[in-house]
Amino acid sequence: MNDQGFLQNTTEPKRARVAQKALKSWYLEHARPLPWREKPSLYGTWLSEVMLQQTRVETGIPKWHAFRERFPTVRSLALATEEEVMKAWEGLGYYRRARLLHKAAKAIHESGDFPNTHAGWIELPGIGPYTAAAIASIGLGEAVAAVDGNVQRVVARWGGIEQPVDSKPGAAKIQAIADAWLDLQNPGDHNQAVMELGALVCSPKKPACDNCPLTSTCDSADNASLWSRLPVKQPKKKPEAWNLTWHVATFLNHVAIEQRPETGIWAKMWAFSETPPPASFAEAGDLCSPVNHILTHKRITATFKHWQAPDLSTLRTHAKNHGGEVVTWTEFEQRARPRLLTKIWNELCSEKG
Ligand code: ADE
Ligand code: SF4
Repeated sequence: MNDQGFLQNTTEPKRARVAQKALKSWYLEHARPLPWREKPSLYGTWLSEVMLQQTRVETGIPKWHAFRERFPTVRSLALATEEEVMKAWEGLGYYRRARLLHKAAKAIHESGDFPNTHAGWIELPGIGPYTAAAIASIGLGEAVAAVDGNVQRVVARWGGIEQPVDSKPGAAKIQAIADAWLDLQNPGDHNQAVMELGALVCSPKKPACDNCPLTSTCDSADNASLWSRLPVKQPKKKPEAWNLTWHVATFLNHVAIEQRPETGIWAKMWAFSETPPPASFAEAGDLCSPVNHILTHKRITATFKHWQAPDLSTLRTHAKNHGGEVVTWTEFEQRARPRLLTKIWNELCSEKG
């Protein structure tokens, strides 16, 4: 997408080239030694980009190492069970990413090799325009600009773009500038330079314009009343409040668990039932105090109602009636669980008897 206004203004292409050069030398000096940059591979780059979609770099680094140790090749990932992949993803959240990563690994394994173009990557599950552009530029040297939230912020401030970056005209302007900036010879380093600048210098709350390679060309440099308003985003819907009651049915150290549906929140992860057990179970109060947890679209308050089964076989029958299972708390730890549960795990288990 081109923005006519930007390209027709004859001073802008020159300004973009000055910015590109400044970014390039800044990156050479300031790039962080991130593990996936060391000996770049398509597998490692792909994994890092999927992880970093919603995970901070600091959190991503150990997880990236651990995941690669667990699944050293795309083949090993493709041949793993979904349960194993979900388990390896634990702690990263947004588990849909893990399922799509697994699906994509299977597609890559079946086709025999990684896609070798941006167009090929974007066909894979879980790969949007940004991720495809990041992988194609970093891993394949293809000249495509990668625009994520960091890049939007840097570009919007630099170009003084006041339209919402998530609106059609705003996104077109951002894309036009990102395209004009792109270093065709070195697109992977260039894209990472812009991301890096967004992460290290042009930060959301307090951009360090004094230390920025773009100060001389940036519309927002040292202009707090401008940068503080940028990037503009369309108003978001507030996350919906959701009062969730989990019925934790136990017998001694055994607990009834069930797998959540294939779609929706915490799809296919293991948790407790949302329906109370039959009257033969004794109500035993709350297992712990209610827990607040925020997901992208929901503000959850979870209550844990504790029920004691009269014996193990009654607990088993109850679980089976819900398509669930009975496990020990220790066995439950081996299952993929919502982060809401792992967060308060010790508190939950302290009552397990
Ligand atoms: N965020 C997403 N991809 C990145 C990368 N390659 N380097 C730094 N931060 C990133
Ligand atoms: Fe961001 Fe300031 Fe650099 Fe402009 S000069 S890109 S506002 S840090």
